[in-house]
Parts: sequence; C-alpha cells; structure tokens
Amino acid sequence: MRNEKKAKLNGLRLLLIVGAVLLLGGIALLLQNNTVGVTQNEPTPTIGVGSSAEQGLKLFRNNCTICHPNDGKTPAKGPALTGSRATRDYTFLIWQVRNGKGQMRSFSSANLSDADLASIYLYLSTELSGK
Ligand code: HEC
Repeated sequence: MRNEKKAKLNGLRLLLIVGAVLLLGGIALLLQNNTVGVTQNEPTPTIGVGSSAEQGLKLFRNNCTICHPNDGKTPAKGPALTGSRATRDYTFLIWQVRNGKGQMRSFSSANLSDADLASIYLYLSTELSGK
C-alpha cells in the first residue's frame, strides 16, 4: 500500500516535470517567434557620414535613370520620382529598391549597399522633393 502511494506520487512528479518542460519549451518558442517577427521589420538603417547626395546622383544615373529619366520627356518605363514618397520616406525607398515592384527589378545589397541607398535617398530628398 505504501509502495503504491509512493509510485503514484512519483508518477505525479514525472507528470509535473514533463508539464513544466513543455511549458518552458512553449515559452521559448513564442519568444523565438517574436524575434523572427522583429527581424522581419528591420529598423531603418541610419544614414552614415560616408553617404552624400553627390554620390547618390552618380548611383542614380548608373542604376535608375534607364527607367526613371525624370525629365518628363523621354519615354520611361518607370514614373518620374520628383515629389515621390521616396523623396521623404527612406523606409519606403529601401523597400521599393530591395524588393522591386511590377516592371521594376530588385537590387540586392550586392548591387547597391546600404550606404549607396542612403546616398540615393540624400539625392532624392534634396534634389527631387519637388519643393
Ligand atoms: C527596369 C526599370 C527600373 C529600374 C532600373 C528602376 N526602376 Fe524604380 N520603378 C520602375 C517601375 C516600372 C516602377 C513602378 C512600379 C509599380 O508601381 O508597378 C518603379 C517605381 C519606383 C519607385 C516608387 C515610386 C512611387 O512614388 O511610387 C521608386 C521609389 C523607385 N522606383 C526607385 C528606383 C530607384 C532608386 C532605382 C535605382 C536604384 C530604380 N527605381 C530603378 C522601374 C525601374
């Protein structure tokens, strides 16, 4: 009888331990999922001192004017960017360039570094803001 009680208690203990492990595992998984969510919404990179509007103009000419000639005359594949949201919203520009859209190709960081993108943003926001 005593042994039976002991066995029951041990069984309960085991159940408790298994339960605790599962709970902790669940919490760990939740936390992990959360961090994945955070990395998906990467913070906007800061614009470093190595970037400039001058450099941005060069990069824009080399990579973008083939589709965004911006003079309103040349037949263009892409819209003129004067006054575009990309001239005041850095995150939007990054998203558009990194992902592409419709007829627009995407540019990986091997094509254009974050610093290059920052330069392009400086160019767009100072020269093409439409103000
Ligand atoms: C192959 C042609 C092509 C190239 C190269 C290209 N774009 Fe585009 N871009 C487009 C097209 C087409 C759209 C319109 C996409 C849509 O909305 O369907 C567009 C849209 C955009 C927009 C959104 C404009 C708005 O206000 O909605 C931005 C910003 C942009 N491009 C920036 C760039 C930059 C910066 C580069 C160079 C790094 C670049 N594009 C290179 C074709 C191109």
